[in-house]
Amino acid sequence: MLSRDQLNPNLLRAEYAVRGPIVQRAQELEEQGRKVIYCNIGNPQALKQRPLSYIRQTLSLLEYPELLNHPDVLRLYPADIVKRAAMILERHPHGTGAYTQSTGIPFIREAVAEFITRRDRIPADRNHIILTDGASKGAQAVLLALLRHPEDGVMIPIPQYPLYSASLALYGGRQVGYFLDERKRWQLSDEILESSFSEAAARGTNPVALVVINPGNPTGSVLPAENVGKIIRFAKRRGLALLADEVYQENVYAQGKSFFSFARAMDEMGESTVPLFSINSVSKGFLGECGHRGGYLELRNVPDDVMAEFAKLQSISLCANVDGQIATYLMAAPPSPGDESYETFLKERDGILSALKSKAEILGRGIGQIPGMSLDVPEGAMYAFVRFELPDEPGVDAASFTPEEKTAYEAGRDTAYCLALLEETGICVVPGSGFGQEPGTLHFRTTFLPPQDEIEQLVGALKAFHIRYVRELTTVRAW
Ligand SMILES: Cc1ncc(COP(=O)(O)O)c(C=O)c1O
Repeated sequence: MLSRDQLNPNLLRAEYAVRGPIVQRAQELEEQGRKVIYCNIGNPQALKQRPLSYIRQTLSLLEYPELLNHPDVLRLYPADIVKRAAMILERHPHGTGAYTQSTGIPFIREAVAEFITRRDRIPADRNHIILTDGASKGAQAVLLALLRHPEDGVMIPIPQYPLYSASLALYGGRQVGYFLDERKRWQLSDEILESSFSEAAARGTNPVALVVINPGNPTGSVLPAENVGKIIRFAKRRGLALLADEVYQENVYAQGKSFFSFARAMDEMGESTVPLFSINSVSKGFLGECGHRGGYLELRNVPDDVMAEFAKLQSISLCANVDGQIATYLMAAPPSPGDESYETFLKERDGILSALKSKAEILGRGIGQIPGMSLDVPEGAMYAFVRFELPDEPGVDAASFTPEEKTAYEAGRDTAYCLALLEETGICVVPGSGFGQEPGTLHFRTTFLPPQDEIEQLVGALKAFHIRYVRELTTVRAW
């Protein structure tokens, strides 16, 4: 029989906290009949967010094109959807069951380029766009392509989304963490970037790229334009490529805040030498079509022969799935004024975004008032990275630990906390150690995706749990 230790050690090293042991335990509890509130993963439709009608109507016609000839089709579907589905079939006559060009269906790449131009008022080239099975595959393609030597590393934010730490482990690259400043709403500073770069170099690591997640997961923060510019200048100084994970670009809720893309900042700065890889997805925003696995990777400031290697890499897995490509097209080109489906689109989109905004506020304000917890109202994305304090454990001298022992000890503490929270309340969150956190701090990440009444319950249950948990830790037993 094949044993685990015969497997690729890189796979064994990779960890993916958002689907780790706590989630497995949650599934066991659910099978035993317990109610679980899944706040562990940004999977909106698993938490009762309804898909947008125009997406599903178009996909259904394309999956079963015979419907287009049905006498009642115009009674069942808005006219613009029927017209659009027919247009898609005309431009892509093979339908959803055939492979496409490796980089994706050309007119869809064109629509993505137009989407970027509309969003940022900058030129975009469809031949520098690759349609991917979700943004994850785009990020992985970039990491795989850029890592040349065992000592090559990629700078990733701490806390980060574990796609990055896990993929670096898989591809044998080194992780170079840079801390986000929690006191400054998780922004980046030159000092932090420079010191993390220099410390890595001193350890013999050669950083080749920098990942930025904006709006942030797990932090829920939105970077101001000046911060984006600062990062671009740092990448240029240090000869790094940039991977801009912008999957939450539509998820900005805070008053006065807006999404500012790296592509736009580079264009405005006249920067044409820093390679920029930007990813976007149909999984987030207001679509929440995680299961359809659609997204794109846009490459800027890369020559044609590099672009050709990325196209070859994509061709090794043939192409992205076609429903995901079509969902990406529909994200890039939603209904417009005058279309029969336009009003419904607006109503559904605005309903989803305003519910997310008010849930972010309820969660942020509620948790921020729990003694021993701190949290600002999340500005964007779908997450809150909640800091909590636990009293020192009797008999444990944490001050005598090495840094590695301290990290392991804190990972044990936040995991035990999240497990106890799950067992007692049914709330499933992810320990901060799964994303990385500054030594000496403890966090957990929760989404604010569940329905509003469940978020309100969650805040109440969390408060009661935290008070009880801390009391238990400080209780000195009589025996
Ligand atoms: C920051 C970030 N990037 C990428 C992804 C992956 O998205 P996709 O479903 O498009 O692969 C996620 C999913 O949660 C995410 O949070």
